[in-house]
This record gives sequence, C-alpha cells and structure tokens, in this order.
Amino acid sequence: MFKLISGKEISLSVKERVAEEVKDLKKNGIEPCLAVILVGDDPASKVYVNNKKKACEFCGIRSLEYLLPADASQEELNSLVEKLNSDESVNGILCQLPLPAHLDEKEVLNLIKPEKDVDAFHPENVGHIMIGDFNFLPCTPAGIMEMLKYENICLDGKNCVIIGRSNIVGKPMAMLMLKENATVTVCHSHTKNLKEVVARADVVVAAVGKAKFVTADMIKDGAVIIDVGINRCEDGKLYGDVDFEACKEKASYITPVPGGVGPMTIATLMQNTVTAAKIQKG
Ligand code: GUN
Repeated sequence: MFKLISGKEISLSVKERVAEEVKDLKKNGIEPCLAVILVGDDPASKVYVNNKKKACEFCGIRSLEYLLPADASQEELNSLVEKLNSDESVNGILCQLPLPAHLDEKEVLNLIKPEKDVDAFHPENVGHIMIGDFNFLPCTPAGIMEMLKYENICLDGKNCVIIGRSNIVGKPMAMLMLKENATVTVCHSHTKNLKEVVARADVVVAAVGKAKFVTADMIKDGAVIIDVGINRCEDGKLYGDVDFEACKEKASYITPVPGGVGPMTIATLMQNTVTAAKIQKG
C-alpha cells in the first residue's frame, strides 16, 4: 500500500507557519513584500504568478506584480530589477522563468541582489548552497525536502536518483540530498541504461518535463516517488512526469500532480520572502 504525499496539506501547514511569522514581524513594523516580474503572456506562467499572489494574500505578505509585454527589451527588464533592488520596501524579487527567447535569463538573474533573491538562482546563492551554508534554498527542491521531512522519510544512506539536471531543480536537489547523507545520482538525456539506474533508487525525483516518462518497470518495490512535472496534455488535463496510476502500486510514498510538489514550491517562496525581510531588517 502506498501513501500519497499531499503537497496541498503540507503546504498549508508551511503557509500557516509563515503567516504567524508575518504577524509577528508586522507587530515590529515590518511588512514583508515580494515583487514578481512576468514578461509576456505564457498561460502556465500566468497561472503560477497568480498562485503566488494568492499565497501572499494568505500569508499577509504584500505582493507587487510587474507585467511586461512579450517584446520588452533587456534594458527595460534590467532597469525594473535595478529599481526593485534599490527599493527598501521590497524584500524579495522573482522573475518568472522562462523568459521570451530574445531576453538573457542569466543577465537578469545575476542582477537581482543576492539578499532579495528568493529563488536562490544568483551565483552567490548557488555557491552558498554548494557549501551547505545558505539563507535561501531554491523553492522546488526545498519544498521537496520539507515534504520528505513531514513524512519522516530519512535519506541517510539511501540511493536517491534525480532525473533531470536543471539549475532550478535537478542540480540543487542533488546538493540538498547529499547534505542529508544520501547517495545521489543525477540522470539526464545522455544517461545510459536509465531504467537500470532508476530501478536501484530508494527515492526517485522526476524533473524531466515529459508526461508519464517514469513507468512502473523502472520502479523498485517500496520506492518513494517525487513528481516535479506539470505537463498539460492534449486532453487538457495536467500530468506529471510519472505514470502515476501504474507506479503507485509499487511505491511506498508518491506525490500526485496536481496537488503535490507545485504547492510546496509556492509555500517555500513565502518562507524565503519572510527570511529575506528578516535579513534585510536585521
Ligand atoms: N519557472 C518555473 N519554476 C520557477 C521557479 O521556481 N522560479 C522562477 N522564477 N521561475 C520558474
């Protein structure tokens, strides 16, 4: 029998904790504030940004939204980031990715002040994560660690296999799992014998971006399965990177899509915004 790890439930408990922290900060005259930048009108990004706004409302965090047209120039985007960097009332800055192709993502991420970088994508923050000494963690991997902690799933000595090597999920996920003394393997499009590698995993994290990529024949009996994927398919429904219906029969724990990792990402962002406010206000 598998257990469903409910991101909906766990994220609620995180947001309630954050809301309490915000209440205390407000008593001391500090109102945490998150600025979100969205360039263009990608429908999925719009949904994410809207969910972030709702979570801010829930937690009592002030939220600012900056919507730039799809043809905005690099200069426009950079000068907005610079304005938010120097605005003392703004504690966190998030630029929703992906950006339209003509914009340089790296340039923008490097421009966000590290102490306002609630995504933890700035090279300085990435460096802190590498050495295990950080203020912020990237929202998705940190949300996954929170889920595992909530379910009392210990990673010490476990074989953890991450599928996908992105800067947003795969690479930082590996660092966080290593910090918990797991043996970590990161797979990607050039990995040979992927099925055999995944079949040895006690914990699988799927962050590939392909619906139902992970199939039941890849899963060891009793594995913990964490699905980061959110893929909208032709039937209009959302599917994860894991073939949920088949894989759940072999899993000990599994996250659903939707209602799994997604809400945890947003809850961590709320936590990071409060951390940023605390750091900036001493
Ligand atoms: N796009 C998909 N995930 C993320 C994220 O965690 N942060 C930002 N800024 N953009 C994203």
